[in-house]
Amino acid sequence: MAASQPTRKILVTSALPYANGSIHLGHLVEYIQTDIWVRFQKMRGHKCTYVCADDAHGTAIMLKAEQNGISPEEQIANIKAEHEKDFADFFVEFDNFHSTHSEENKALSELIYERLLANGHIASRNITQAYDPEKELFLADRYIKGTCPKCKTEDQYGDNCEACGATYSPTDLLNPKSAISGATPIEKESEHFFFKLPEFTEFLKNWTRAGHLQTEMANKLAEWLDSGLQEWDISRDAPYFGFEIPNQPGKYFYVWLDAPIGYIASFKNLCERTGENWEDYWIDDESDDVSSDNGRLNNGTELYHFIGKDIVNFHALFWPAMLHSAKFRTPTAVNVHGFLTVNGQKMSKSRGTFINARSYLEHLKPEYLRYYFAAKLTSGVDDLDLNLEDFLVRVNSDLVGKVVNIASRTAKFIQKSGGILSDTIEDPELWQTFVDANETIAKLYEAREFAKAMREIMNLADAANEYIAAKAPWALAKQEGQEQQVIDVCTLGINMFRVITTYLKPVLPELSRNAEAFLNTELTWANATQFAGEHSINKFKPLLTRVEQDQIDAMLVTNAAANTQAQVEAQTATKTVSKKSVHTIETGGETLDEPIADEIDFNTFAKVDLRVAKIVKASHVEGADKLLQLTLDIGGETRNVFSGIKSAYQPSDLEGKLTILVANLAPRKMKFGISEGMVLAAGPGGEEIYLLEPHDGATPGMRVM
Ligand code: MSP
Ligand code: ZN
Repeated sequence: MAASQPTRKILVTSALPYANGSIHLGHLVEYIQTDIWVRFQKMRGHKCTYVCADDAHGTAIMLKAEQNGISPEEQIANIKAEHEKDFADFFVEFDNFHSTHSEENKALSELIYERLLANGHIASRNITQAYDPEKELFLADRYIKGTCPKCKTEDQYGDNCEACGATYSPTDLLNPKSAISGATPIEKESEHFFFKLPEFTEFLKNWTRAGHLQTEMANKLAEWLDSGLQEWDISRDAPYFGFEIPNQPGKYFYVWLDAPIGYIASFKNLCERTGENWEDYWIDDESDDVSSDNGRLNNGTELYHFIGKDIVNFHALFWPAMLHSAKFRTPTAVNVHGFLTVNGQKMSKSRGTFINARSYLEHLKPEYLRYYFAAKLTSGVDDLDLNLEDFLVRVNSDLVGKVVNIASRTAKFIQKSGGILSDTIEDPELWQTFVDANETIAKLYEAREFAKAMREIMNLADAANEYIAAKAPWALAKQEGQEQQVIDVCTLGINMFRVITTYLKPVLPELSRNAEAFLNTELTWANATQFAGEHSINKFKPLLTRVEQDQIDAMLVTNAAANTQAQVEAQTATKTVSKKSVHTIETGGETLDEPIADEIDFNTFAKVDLRVAKIVKASHVEGADKLLQLTLDIGGETRNVFSGIKSAYQPSDLEGKLTILVANLAPRKMKFGISEGMVLAAGPGGEEIYLLEPHDGATPGMRVM
């Protein structure tokens, strides 16, 4: 039986979200996956603790605060409040949500660093890096831009060209500029500290094969291990928002050194309140034999990290090596998931599929998404797709059509006869299949095979609905002498509903809470299969409404507006002028909006030459998903312009129309040719992009003021 296993002590983490951006649906794959697993463990009666924190350090956060005109401390406090609210509203229930910018984390980072140092695992040497002489800041690759050395496209970031796909080192860029100040970077030398990762090669070869990782991940890591590990640069020069390295003034821990230590810090912070001993879960009790399933031996506690596939090297190489050197225990398992795509493609702001948690919550219920993700999640690292059409169909047919339907078709007959269930099991064989599913479904949850668990549960729901349809209590109720049979049939229906909502409780906490009120009982894994007879239930209220297409549409509109708003804020908040509109750099998860002028004076504005232009020809561009090619007449002069309005306009609708052109924008070499200016448009994106049209009577070439 379900309840007879010993109580486990389990500590679980999700990756710490960066404190410079909002939570989006991609992040939520991870937090929902972890939360479901944690709720399942708790329901099984285990001692399971789920901690997380904001990842508050690093250059990106420092610059973001500067753009917003606030201190980094204010920046991270604002974001923390936002993140906590988003998580709570998706029913992601942490036992503690802390910050890496905390006292506990500072002390632990210093402790671990000092142990690595004492063990001879820290090296130091001078390295040469790009440096922004104006901003007085060393520049990571992603903060340098210039002209592609291969195809000569301007404005390319860091180490690869968006236009031709070439990869190079930032020192190869022609005419390199700091993306922060626009200054030409110089080369500058400084001392850096390194963690001697190669010394852990043998340890890691064993560790990665000792059952702590999914096989596909262990194989991936074996490739890296075989090709040789590099020493890991763990220091950054001031100015940096982070912790200063002990006895090294002006040197800071690189954000990725103190970020995973933030897991320990968050748990320690929780223990200060609960009186538990954090060391039980973290200190190596010497039973750490890497050749066995060592995790479970550490003081009898288990430690699990849930992460996305982009940060595996940090969690399965650097982290276990650091822990091992510092005499901390290593994780029982690092559980890696794939990335979310939306409608089959990478999430993208321009396609409107970069969906923020808050935009979703304004229009749709969190449990729809929790269920949809559960129905797609496996224990593997494959990407998963949120297809918005499939989302609507799946949620409505499974949750509303199958699950809730069982109760709504049977409750009223119990209600009519006094609200008390009968103690007869009308179809014992059918009931037994619900009982037998208990352990199968528990095993699937344990193994993070949520999609399979959802399929099993929906099979039960199908069986329950078929039973009710075959017995047709509504027809029986009209026949004389069938009163008891109606109650017996509906009692089994309600009991089957109870089992199903119990099995779904880790995924649907709110629906289950409402079902508990209706069923007048607490749903636990252990009592799920005890048949509730002669038990009184409460009045049935609809438990979940259908997803409507209108809600999805409205969500996308809100989201597009929120993304536009964020871009506008980024533009108006920054100090430097750039000729290009907002461009988001995304590397290694950190994002930075390209600086745009805070405010410009009238003379600067007056330099912009806006002209009425007639679209004489519009055509599709082969190979471009967003662009249309426009031939414009600006009063005797013809211009060729590429414009990202394909999602909103058919070329044939445009020919003959008047619009407004920025006529003195420097020509820009694009993959498809040279664009000579830019037409003005506004709107949230997608189909809603509106070309600005001048008043009747305007003629090509007329200056716009
Ligand atoms: N701050 C680091 C993690 C430090 S952990 C010591 C970080 N933050 S993040 O905000 O970029 O990502 C947080 C988690 O969300 C990561 O595990 C990441 O893989 C995951 N995801 C971010 N975008 C995602 C998708 N589009 N899809 C699925 N998971 C994604 O990395
Ligand atoms: Zn190029």
